Formats: sequence, structure tokens, C-alpha cells
Amino acid sequence: MKISLTGIKPTATPHLGNYLGAIRPALKLSESYETLYFIADYHALTTVRDAGEMRGHIYDVAATWLACGLDPESTLLYRQSDIIEVFELSWILSCLLATGQLERGHSYKDALAKGGSPNAGVFNYPVLMAADILLYGAHVVPVGKDQKQHLELARDVAQRFNHIFANDEELLTLPEPLIGEAPLVPGLDGEKMSKSRGNSIPLFATAKKLRKMVMSIKTGSEALEEPKDPDSSTVYQLCKQLTPSIADEMATKLRAGGYGWGHAKQEFFEALEAELGPKREVYESLRGDTAKLDAILADGAARARARAQATMTEVRKAIGIS
Ligand code: ADP
Ligand code: TRP
Repeated sequence: MKISLTGIKPTATPHLGNYLGAIRPALKLSESYETLYFIADYHALTTVRDAGEMRGHIYDVAATWLACGLDPESTLLYRQSDIIEVFELSWILSCLLATGQLERGHSYKDALAKGGSPNAGVFNYPVLMAADILLYGAHVVPVGKDQKQHLELARDVAQRFNHIFANDEELLTLPEPLIGEAPLVPGLDGEKMSKSRGNSIPLFATAKKLRKMVMSIKTGSEALEEPKDPDSSTVYQLCKQLTPSIADEMATKLRAGGYGWGHAKQEFFEALEAELGPKREVYESLRGDTAKLDAILADGAARARARAQATMTEVRKAIGIS
């Protein structure tokens, strides 16, 4: 079975955009791939500067994936930082990369363009990410469009390694990005839902808060009886990504008239609650049991590490350091 692997940075509590755009599709892949999903805590260290925040978000992310249906028996769920081999491979790969290639990195270039002085972690970020992927022989990596360049670099450096140290045999597997076709999930204001825009719907807000947020979604101001255009409305777009069958009926009613935006929001809220309510209960119980989360992460780490060590044995032999 082919391997699907992805990393999730523990930099915030997940929102509906993360769920619809990343979590739900990645979990679906576990039906056809062997799945390894890890918490990229050392990538988060390029920005997080508070130990309590880091610790808290690691648990938030772990509890979120488990509550959304990740089965820790069949999917390896682990913390990047528990697999120390990743730093060894990261160094080896960095010796094969030209600094110019890292200088062309989008995030690094963006940080410079904004007039900042990015830390060296931002510069080296794509190398650690390549090591995250190549250590486990991942075939596909589900990511957002913004990560495409990082995947190209991972492929590139794997190819270079294989060429120089393995007679062009695929000792390191060349990964493919798996980028979702679905449009980006809009936020409360109709722009891309993002934690930094302050327009996001937190995945596990209470039902009361969730309803309040849904009711605050921007809509047109047509009268109740007027026909309405679903395609230009955020509430319909959100509903379409969440539950297409409910959205289809919503579109028919909006076009017919006699159905207001308030009705549409109420239906969307009910669909959200049906999908998220049961998951919220599991989330809360897990989030309150950090000992259980630690145990699940430790078990995932032990299994992931065995694979990482097997790869490193081959890699060290290939480079002549064993
Ligand atoms: P944010 O944009 O809030 O900072 P991240 O960059 O941490 O979110 O994204 C984590 C994952 O969630 C990525 O795979 C990204 O593609 C996905 N994602 C984030 N926002 C959206 C959105 N509005 N629509 C679809 N997917 C999203
Ligand atoms: N860079 C990814 C992001 O910002 C997170 C990440 C780290 C990752 N290592 C990875 C994703 C390996 C896929 C594979 O979202």
C-alpha cells in the first residue's frame, strides 16, 4: 500500500477551513493509503515563542485529529520532535542543496520582502520538511497549494541523493504533492478563512457560539420574497463544502424566493452541528485527558521511529558514515 504523509503545525486551534480543506480529505485517504500524520512542532518553533502555547497547541491538534476520526491504530500519529533521526537526515540533505535554492523559497523571500530579518529556521524550513517526508518513504503528501514549492524541493533533493549516493536507484522515494481541487473555504467575511484574518469559525466552538458566528456571516440585503443568487453567497459556499446534498436544496429554495438568508444560515448551522456536535464531545473529553494523548503520541512515535531508523541505516551506508 502506498504511503500518505502530512505534517500539521501546532500554531493555532484548528478552524473550519482546516477541517474542510485539510483534515477531512486527509482522513479519507486512510481508506486507500497507509497514513502517517504528524505534528510539526519544530517547524512551529520558527514562530512560536511561548512554551505554554506550544504545549497547548500540540494537544489541540492531536485531540482534533483524533476527534475527527483518526484511528491511531491504523494511522501513525506522532510528534516530529520525537523522531530525532529527522535532524540527522536534515543535515545530510542540506549538504546536497545549494543555498540559492533555499534563497528562492517563497516564505523566506516573503519575509525578506516584508522588510523582516527572518531567522535561519525560516531559511532551512524546506530542508527539515524534506527530511520529514523522505524519512518514511512517503509516496503522496496532501498539502495546500502554498506548500507545492516545498514538495518540489523534497523531490529534487531526493533525486540528487539517489543520483550521487545510490547509483540512481530510488533509495529515497520521490514524493508527489496531493493538492485538493476544492476551492478555498471562505470565512465569515467571504474572504479566505484564515486564523490571521480573524474571520474563522473555530472547529469546536460551543453550539451557542457556533450559531452566533454563523448568523454573523455576511449576506445580501434582499427581501424575504425575492429570488436570491446562491453562488455569490458565503453561506451557500460554506454549506456546499460541508454537505453538498443540503446545499443543493438550499440553492433551489434561494433561487425560488420566499426563503431568506436567515433561513439559509439556520440550515447551515444545523448541518454544521450535525457534523461537528458529536466530534466536539470527543474533542473535549480527549483534550481534558493529556495523559491519554501523551500515550497515543508515544505509541505513534515508537512505530514511526522504527521506520525512520531503518531508512537512516540505508542512508548512512550509502554516504559512507556507518
Ligand atoms: P491558516 O491559513 O489559518 O494559517 P494553515 O496555513 O495553518 O491555516 O493551514 C493548515 C491546513 O489547512 C493547510 O493544509 C491549508 O491548506 C488548509 N487550509 C487553511 N485555510 C483553509 C481554507 N480557508 N480553505 C481550505 N483549506 C484551508
Ligand atoms: N510546512 C507545512 C505547513 O506549513 C507543515 C509541514 C511540515 C509538512 N513538515 C511537513 C507538511 C511534511 C507535509 C509534509 O503546513
